[in-house]
Amino acid sequence: MTRRRRIYEGKAKVLFEGPEPGTLVQYFKDDASAFNNQKRGIITGKGVLNNRISEYLMTRLGDIGVPTHFMRRLNMREQLVREVEIIPIEVVVHNIAAATLSKRFGIPEGTQLPRSIIEYYYKSDELGDPMVSEEHITAFGWAMPQDLDDIMALSLRINDYLSGLFLGIGLKLVDFKLEFGRLWENDEMRIVLADEISPDNCRLWDVKTNEKLDKDRFREDLGRVEEAYQEVARRLGILPEGGPVDVATPIREPGPR
Ligand code: TYD
Repeated sequence: MTRRRRIYEGKAKVLFEGPEPGTLVQYFKDDASAFNNQKRGIITGKGVLNNRISEYLMTRLGDIGVPTHFMRRLNMREQLVREVEIIPIEVVVHNIAAATLSKRFGIPEGTQLPRSIIEYYYKSDELGDPMVSEEHITAFGWAMPQDLDDIMALSLRINDYLSGLFLGIGLKLVDFKLEFGRLWENDEMRIVLADEISPDNCRLWDVKTNEKLDKDRFREDLGRVEEAYQEVARRLGILPEGGPVDVATPIREPGPR
């Protein structure tokens, strides 16, 4: 078994050096964290499901012309991605009021917002990911105004597309978080969608019952956490062969080391 160099280990994923220059292997763990790492746990099979869900959504977005870092899924828990320079900003899109947005502005949870609202957070664990404005982002040099224009346009396109996709399987896309990176090709820089899109960073509510089918089940100790991730995969038509049993089985493939 070849030993790969570990580039970075985050809360839910590990990045390894890829087989070719300019590529990385993204390994999805079952670890879950919330509230700036104050709450931690394991959601069995989450890594397998998020690998599939993110593969599916990134592929669909690629099909409509959204540039992404995704290349291909390698196995149950790993995908090959392009190495990008991550822009240290979390882009959050809100469609329906929930969680902190509801609290901050006193808007009841579940209220449809007058229009989609984009927020930016500076990626810094020590600082607790403070919310920032476009002014901070350009003044501190995290992104150029042109990059931000691209990021905003891409985020709104992704939101429109994913909102429709999820509505088609009976889910409301309440809010979600995106990350972008810079990809250089022949001296030309492009902003591409990076990281992952999964129930770890989306709020997804059942259209009829408003049941939460995302990481809030873990954050709020609502139970049936694994089942929620499985249900999203099932509705997308991508539950791994063998279904939940397969997913729950400990993985014997090369893992993080
Ligand atoms: P948001 O409402 O901004 O934060 P909170 O969960 O504290 O109320 O989150 C909106 C969506 O973005 C939600 O689905 C979680 C996701 N998100 C992340 O995945 N990581 C983050 O660091 C942030 C701020 C949000």
